[in-house]
Amino acid sequence: MKILILGSGGREHALTWAVLQNPKCDHVIVAPGNAGIEEIAECIALDIENGAAIVEFSKENNIDFVIIGPENPLACGVADDLRAANILCFGPSQAAAQLESSKKFTKEICDAAQAPTARYATFEDPDSAKAYIHQHGAPIVVKADGLAAGKGVVVAMSEQEANDAIDMMFEGSFGAAGARVVIEEFMEGEEASWFILSDGTNVLPIGTAQDHKRAFDGDQGPNTGGMGAYSPAPILTDSVMEAAMDDIIKPTIAEMKKRGTPYQGVLYAGFMIKEGQARLVEYNCRFGDPECQVLMMRLGGQILDLMLATARETLDQEQVSFADDHAMTIVMAAKGYPGPYNKGTEIKGVSLIPSDSKNMVFHAGTVRADQQLLANGGRVLNITARADSLQSARNIAYQNIQSIDWPEGFYRNDIGWRSLTK
Ligand code: AMP
Ligand code: GLY
Repeated sequence: MKILILGSGGREHALTWAVLQNPKCDHVIVAPGNAGIEEIAECIALDIENGAAIVEFSKENNIDFVIIGPENPLACGVADDLRAANILCFGPSQAAAQLESSKKFTKEICDAAQAPTARYATFEDPDSAKAYIHQHGAPIVVKADGLAAGKGVVVAMSEQEANDAIDMMFEGSFGAAGARVVIEEFMEGEEASWFILSDGTNVLPIGTAQDHKRAFDGDQGPNTGGMGAYSPAPILTDSVMEAAMDDIIKPTIAEMKKRGTPYQGVLYAGFMIKEGQARLVEYNCRFGDPECQVLMMRLGGQILDLMLATARETLDQEQVSFADDHAMTIVMAAKGYPGPYNKGTEIKGVSLIPSDSKNMVFHAGTVRADQQLLANGGRVLNITARADSLQSARNIAYQNIQSIDWPEGFYRNDIGWRSLTK
């Protein structure tokens, strides 16, 4: 089987690594990939948001299966283009991807599905938004409706902060994404994520994880795309998951099907958990990054069979075989990230870390030039380990990271603190 994977992050490196372990896979091509992916698969330049170009490439190269990593190609309908051309693909349609690309859409689905989530209202002008904020008071959460690269949410601790967020969004900081805002009740609790495959009808959970969104230790500093993750997330106990499945996930999948826009792909559900009850914070229509790295480390090659069953609508015939293991990934980012940072700084020592089923360095923003490995993005490396306890996985990951010699990089020293200090 010849597989095309779209994307260039740590998520896509982990997906490539896992898919390659499945004997069904003969050849993987990744567009555009990165320096780590290049070591295990063929990388090509292709505009991953250009559906016509991807269809043409897939036909010319006899691609059997396309796996779409990031949200942008999904939001612009690349999965629809592939399906229209009869090319098997993993990822929801543009209509179904609205579960990530429009917060208002997700809230309406939650209403129809009666899924527990924060109370909300949507606004298309700043004055009525501010009147609502004044009426409800802080803390309150202001969200740009559309995709804003993870930066469109302001958890405002004061009314002033909420009003400033409204001004910023309506002044166009997020372009069209901010032309409509959703204002939500602030939910207290602990956050965790659940990843569930759906073929449009059936659902199959494939693991839980917790991310670390803030840049610095102690959950300080600005929000990032994620500075580290681990799986499983102990707060998502069997009983919390059972209730979330019945009250949130299944009704969402049923509602999407009822509307004629079945959800086919991985549903990434972000929950706020308090007193053993989960409420939905958000859906994403793709794997999390860096959550995917820990999930792939735990699932290995079986993910390809599960993704194929998702695309072929035969998920009811699949089971996941879970080992009693734990995985952790620590993100190394360029100093300055998520603000401005330098590119092109040299990274040494990655090859000193073993690459096997227990230790992996998944690359994100890296390139190779004249034999040197150079940083080429904000988040750059994911030092990932798997072991029989979270503490051991953590020890291995932090020990491995010592081998990396990259003075321009930084990482958090407290990944996993929530679960390890309990
Ligand atoms: P989102 O992009 O919707 O996941 O929001 C980003 C982050 O903002 C979430 O991971 C939460 O930490 C926080 N957040 C979003 N909505 C709420 C809410 N209603 N109450 C509390 N925190 C929230
Ligand atoms: N790590 C958060 C995300 O992928 O959205």
